[in-house]
Amino acid sequence: MLPMRRAILTAVRTKHCRFFSASQSNWNARKGLVLGVYEKEGEDGSHLTEAAARWDKALSGKLSELLKISGPALKKGRTRIFYGVHQDFPCVAAVGLGKTTASVCGAENWDTCKENIREAVSAGCRQLQDLEVSHVEVDGCGDAQSAAEGAVLGLFQYDELKSKKKTKVTAQLHGSTDLAGWEKGILYGEGQNLARLLMEAPANHITPTVFADTIEEKLAPYAERVTVHKRPQAWIEEHQMGAFLSVSKGSEEPPVFLELHYNGCPDRTKAPLLLVGKGITFDSGGISLKPSSGMDAMRADMGGAATVCASIVTAAALKLPINIIGLAPLCENMPSGKANKPGDVVRAQNGKTIQVDNTDAEGRLILADALCYAHTFKPSAIVNAATLTGAMDVALGSAATGVFTNSDWLWEKLYTASVVTGDRVWRMPLFQHYTRQVTDSQLADLNNIGKYSRSGGACTAAAFLREFVTVTHWAHLDIAGVMTNKDEIPYLRKGMSGRPTRTLVEFAAGLAHQG
Ligand code: BES
Ligand code: ZN
Ligand code: ZN
Repeated sequence: MLPMRRAILTAVRTKHCRFFSASQSNWNARKGLVLGVYEKEGEDGSHLTEAAARWDKALSGKLSELLKISGPALKKGRTRIFYGVHQDFPCVAAVGLGKTTASVCGAENWDTCKENIREAVSAGCRQLQDLEVSHVEVDGCGDAQSAAEGAVLGLFQYDELKSKKKTKVTAQLHGSTDLAGWEKGILYGEGQNLARLLMEAPANHITPTVFADTIEEKLAPYAERVTVHKRPQAWIEEHQMGAFLSVSKGSEEPPVFLELHYNGCPDRTKAPLLLVGKGITFDSGGISLKPSSGMDAMRADMGGAATVCASIVTAAALKLPINIIGLAPLCENMPSGKANKPGDVVRAQNGKTIQVDNTDAEGRLILADALCYAHTFKPSAIVNAATLTGAMDVALGSAATGVFTNSDWLWEKLYTASVVTGDRVWRMPLFQHYTRQVTDSQLADLNNIGKYSRSGGACTAAAFLREFVTVTHWAHLDIAGVMTNKDEIPYLRKGMSGRPTRTLVEFAAGLAHQG
C-alpha cells in the first residue's frame, strides 16, 4: 500500500453512483483512479496536482514518464488511461485540468478553475465507467467540491427503463483531507441529478401525483424540519385558483398543489425564502396543440418544480440555516372536451381576469395562482423557476438562465451564486413596454399572450407574471433554454439537465449564511 491517506466518507447513495466510506467499500471491486494534470504555462508539458505528484514520487517518476511518452501534453478536458501502473488500481485516468492560473473569469461569468475540474473529473470517471470499473478514487484537484460535482454529474445516466444499464460506479475522495468539500459537492451533484431524474422520466411515469410522492419520499429523512402538503383538487378549488384549474381540467390526471416547508433557521418564525416551480408534467399545448415533432421533450415542462423541489431536498440535506417554502402547481396541459379554449376567460386567486388566447401559454396561468398564494406567507423574497417560453431558448440558448427581477439585491445574490456553480444566469428586462402588451386584452384584465405574438416572448411572459407580484424582491427564472443538454455542458450527458438546481442551492446557502 502506498503511503497515501485514504479519505473516509459517510454513505450517500444515488441511482448510478454510490459514495461511501473506505471502511464500507468493496475492495474486491475493479478499481480505478482519477488524477489531475495541469497544462504547463507557456510551454509544452504537464504539471501534476499534489495528489498526482505524490503518486509520481512513490512510483519513481513513472507517471510523468508515461505522460511524456504517450503523446502531446494533456489538454483541458482530455483523458489518458494507463493500465497496470499499480496493483491497487488496474486503470489510472490522467485528466487535463487546463492552466494552473484559471480563476474567476469576467468574460465568462464563472470560475474557470472550478469548471475545468468538473469537466476533467467527469470525463475521467466516465472513461473508467466505460471500462466497467466499479469503484473510482478521485483526486480532489485542489477543490474537492468541484471534483465531487464532476464525478456525480458525469456518472449520471437515466437508464431506469432499459434492460442494459451502465456500470454502477462508487466514488471516493483520494489524496485530500477536504472531506467536507467533497461531501458538499456530492450533495450539490445529487440534488441536480434528482431534478434530472424527474425531468427525464416519461410523463406516464411521473404524473403530478407520482412527482409529489417522490419528493415527499426524498424529504422523509428530514421530517423533523420538513412538512409536506400534497394539496388535492378540492383544496385548489377552495383556494379559488381558477387559472391553475383551467389548465388542469383538460386532463384526466388529477392536479396536485405541492407545498413544502423547510425550517432550517433556529428562529422558525423568520420570514421564509419562497421558491415556486412550474410543474407541467406534460405540455401538449392543449387545444393550441404543439407540433408532434419534439413534443416528447415536454415531459420536462415540470423542470421548474423539479429544480425548486430538488434544491429544497438539498438544502435539507445540507442543514442550511434558513426557512424555505416551496410551491409547485402540478398538472398536465392536455386537449380534451373540458380543456381551455382560445378566447376563454378565467379568474386567478387575486381576482384578476385572464383571456386565454393561446392554451399553450399555460405556465403563466398556473404560476399566476401560485404567486398569489406565495404572498400569503409574507416571504423575504420570491423566486420562481419555469420552462416558460421557447423565446428564452431563442434569446440565450443553453448558456444561461434568463432572470427577470424587480430587485437589484436579488439579482446580485443569484449572480454571485451562479459564478460559483458555473450554472449561469443573465439579467433580462422587465420594461413597462412589455407590460402594455399583456394588459391590452379585449375581454379581460390580462391576455395570456403578448399582442405582438412572438416578439419578445420571454419578456412578455415575465411581464405577465409581474402582474401577480407585490413583494419587493421577486425573480422569475426562465429555464426553457437550459432545460436540455446536447453536448454544451461537458460534465452533463445528453438529456434533461436539471439546471439550475446547484445555483438555487448556492443562492439559498448564501442567504442562509448572511443571516
Ligand atoms: N413549455 C413551453 C415552453 C418551452 C418551449 C419550454 C421549449 C421548453 C422548451 C410553454 O408552455 C409554451 O409552450 N410557451 C409558448 C408560449 C407562446 C404560445 C406565447 C411558446 O414558447 O411557444
Ligand atoms: Zn405550453
Ligand atoms: Zn409549458
